[in-house]
Amino acid sequence: MPTNVERPASDTHDWVSIGFHWATVLLLLVVFTLALFPGIVKGSTAVHMTLGLLFLIVIPARGIWRLFRATAPNRSNEPRLSRLAATSVHLLLYALLILIPLLGWVYADARGIELSPLGIEMPRLADFDRGYARSVYFWKKWAAYSLLGLIFCHASAAIFYHHFLKNDGVLRSMLPLPSHGLASGWPAHAGQRDRDVILGQSQT
Ligand code: HEM
Repeated sequence: MPTNVERPASDTHDWVSIGFHWATVLLLLVVFTLALFPGIVKGSTAVHMTLGLLFLIVIPARGIWRLFRATAPNRSNEPRLSRLAATSVHLLLYALLILIPLLGWVYADARGIELSPLGIEMPRLADFDRGYARSVYFWKKWAAYSLLGLIFCHASAAIFYHHFLKNDGVLRSMLPLPSHGLASGWPAHAGQRDRDVILGQSQT
């Protein structure tokens, strides 16, 4: 039975999730630029490696936040296929953002490149071996360009499908706009039943 309990007005992600999202975008932009234009600054490879390794902290932290604390918009009205596609792409993005830095780390060790981000001594993941380094670099490069392709699909879906075609607020929910707040949206772990109970639509 519906009651006068109102659904939260803004259906958005929380500030921490938005911060993680745009910090990841910015970090990726810098990491790719330094890799593709190594002459752009002195020591670009060292900065590329240090910032690249940061993903090994940022991505697990983002995953933990998403699992336990994040608030997320209610997407239950979206077609199943669209939700499945979005979830698959997100999982693949997270997987690549962990895999690529690990491959970079192994590559640096196998190639004998000094790896001490901010003076921190890193454990060795591989012994010096040029042949091994070459094949690891090959896979790292493919993983990095696949990541670029996937980011293109992800951003295109948000801009063209969700914003221009459906205008369903999905893009806006991840933008740092003033209507966002921790109290808005739904806990990501809340099921439809929780939402129905909060809205007073439960049959029990
Ligand atoms: C998400 C993180 C990362 C991304 C997206 C990324 C991406 C790339 C790309 C696109 C290239 C150029 C590939 C080519 O066309 O040859 C590259 C090169 C390279 N990457 Fe990464 N990388 C990441 C993390 C790392 C990490 C953590 C390390 C080492 C600890 C590393 C070490 C290197 C090295 C040594 C090169 C060669 C750079 C040069 O020739 O100056 N990368 N990376």
